[in-house]
Amino acid sequence: MACQWLARSLLVATCISLGAGTRIADISGIHQRTPLLGQTVNLTALVTAKGESGFYLLEDSVPDTRVSNGLAVFTTSTSILRQVNPGDIVSLTGKVTEYRPTADPDYLFLTELESPTKITVLSTNNTVTPLVLGKDRSPPTEQLSPLDSGWDGWLSVPNNRSRIDTVNGTLRPEEYGIDFWASLLGQIVSIPKPVSIDFPNSFGEFWVYGDWPVTGKNSRGGLSLTFGPLGIPDANPEAIIIGAPLDGTKNPQTAIGTTLTDIVGVVTYQFGFYYVLPLTAPAVISSPDFTVVPTTLSSMDDCAITVGDYNVENMAPTGTHIIDVATHIADVLLTPDIVFIQEVQDNSGPTDDGVVSANVTLSTLVQAIAAASDVTYSWIDIDPVDGEDGGEPGGNIRQAYLYRPEKLQLVKAPGIVAGGALNATKIIGPFGKPALSLNPGRVDPTNTAWQDSRKPLAAQWTTASGHNLFTVNLHLVSKGGSTTGQGDARPPVNLPVAQRTSQVETVSTFVESILRLDPWANILVAGDCNEYLQTRSVFSSLA
Ligand SMILES: *[C@@H]1O[C@H](CO)[C@@H](O)[C@H](O)[C@H]1NC(C)=O
Ligand SMILES: *[C@@H]1O[C@H](CO)[C@@H](O)[C@H](O)[C@H]1NC(C)=O
Ligand SMILES: *[C@@H]1O[C@H](CO)[C@@H](O)[C@H](O)[C@H]1NC(C)=O
Ligand SMILES: *[C@@H]1O[C@H](CO)[C@@H](O)[C@H](O)[C@H]1NC(C)=O
Ligand SMILES: *[C@@H]1O[C@H](CO)[C@@H](O)[C@H](O)[C@H]1NC(C)=O
Ligand SMILES: *[C@@H]1O[C@H](CO)[C@@H](O)[C@H](O)[C@H]1NC(C)=O
Repeated sequence: MACQWLARSLLVATCISLGAGTRIADISGIHQRTPLLGQTVNLTALVTAKGESGFYLLEDSVPDTRVSNGLAVFTTSTSILRQVNPGDIVSLTGKVTEYRPTADPDYLFLTELESPTKITVLSTNNTVTPLVLGKDRSPPTEQLSPLDSGWDGWLSVPNNRSRIDTVNGTLRPEEYGIDFWASLLGQIVSIPKPVSIDFPNSFGEFWVYGDWPVTGKNSRGGLSLTFGPLGIPDANPEAIIIGAPLDGTKNPQTAIGTTLTDIVGVVTYQFGFYYVLPLTAPAVISSPDFTVVPTTLSSMDDCAITVGDYNVENMAPTGTHIIDVATHIADVLLTPDIVFIQEVQDNSGPTDDGVVSANVTLSTLVQAIAAASDVTYSWIDIDPVDGEDGGEPGGNIRQAYLYRPEKLQLVKAPGIVAGGALNATKIIGPFGKPALSLNPGRVDPTNTAWQDSRKPLAAQWTTASGHNLFTVNLHLVSKGGSTTGQGDARPPVNLPVAQRTSQVETVSTFVESILRLDPWANILVAGDCNEYLQTRSVFSSLA
């Protein structure tokens, strides 16, 4: 087979004892793991690309689309890297290995050739023809792995039920995204008409889709999480991360909807995801208009209440982003009547000095909004117990409400006071007239569900038109410790999903107790859930 390929490349006159060598297809196989692990092999193949940590080989394609015809050769030896160049046909010997950083046991193994020796350049300047994605092969658009069993697909609970590398299944690239990208591992591909779907991370890496079928495309050119035709959350495996260019150039600044020149690169796996490493950085063709259109909601009507929600991201009184947040609330959200805020830090910010009050932080934000609009908000919050609510150490983040006193007032019945950090507000009152026993108050703050986490802030309001409104401002426990969507554990580990589910259950119980006294009560639960809404099991108690 390699002879056939060499004949096509026209530059090698004779077939140099190729029958003796191993084929890349034999190394790739049709399973997730290589069948030739640990074996020393002789190869003859075309060099397609090289970077600082090795080069990439390609052989003639085999008819089986499950089999990759590409392979990464790992070496940081500059003398070896000087010896080979894209377009060379080389013969070499090396050892088939599977790489996974010991510190990251939840990543997949990457099959590669290590310790290359006996490298002979047989010919140079051969044409390298990438496989064209969207034309030769297109990624599937819904599921990542057949092991993501459960009603919520890749977001199913329980998760971590099996491991791709242990199951070592036969690849099904037509149906599953991980299998698709695995079937192209080490291969050179081109991505026609790439569109970025996010901003670059701190390493200049960004996600794209190319000129192929996609699902969940939104008006900004990004891909939203949706439900697939079978009612399973769609994982958008048709998107791929563009890593650092192999030639040392720098990727451009992108945003959602940035269009780029075609990308040619090699498929690899690193940091828990499949990547395409471009030969060189693509150029931006067009960038979307970043102007954020203000809301069309306005509160002209006394009977209506407008609501906003903003996670102000570890806001301390000295936060340099206070002006930006204030401008957004003024000019984009158009100063809603009530704003649910999360992540307000105490007056000393992350300094761990026992301070828990956030009145300076909140009045600084309120003043900044007043300077950017004609609205001066009132605000309420409840100080947590120092260090008990998680988040940045010393910061004591909590939820708060900003509200326009001419549109909403806290209900202040005789004897009703604000609760403290550990006082649970309860639903009291006769049938038809539910009320909070503490206003504002925290929902079930001593329940273990809220350990090391921000307790929900409940309040009862009366509007200018005399209506009653209950609100619960949530900030559920964050996903720290979870594995990547394209990692080994399936469905991917979602931490701490059991705690997050219990948190939602305590809020559901609270909401039910209001509805038991008044099935028509106005209740608004909002905030930062730290969870995909498609993870239905977490929210099922709210249904
Ligand atoms: C994966 O499956 C292939 C094909 O059966 C086999 O050759 C290889 O040894 C397996 N690897 C592991 C680690 O199970
Ligand atoms: C690789 O080639 C060498 C000769 O260069 C030979 O001695 C060796 O047996 C070959 N190894 C394999 C695995 O084919
Ligand atoms: C390589 O090929 C290109 C175009 O096919 C040709 O212009 C160039 O001279 C060749 N270089 C060598 C070293 O053969
Ligand atoms: C996932 O399962 C593996 C066993 O397959 C176990 O070692 C690991 O601790 C689990 N991870 C989590 C976060 O539960
Ligand atoms: C914050 O609260 C303290 C203690 O009640 C008070 O002395 C101070 O004036 C308040 N600061 C602001 C900005 O409201
Ligand atoms: C809050 O709980 C503490 C400790 O149990 C208690 O001393 C205090 O009176 C409670 N406050 C209210 C307003 O119920």
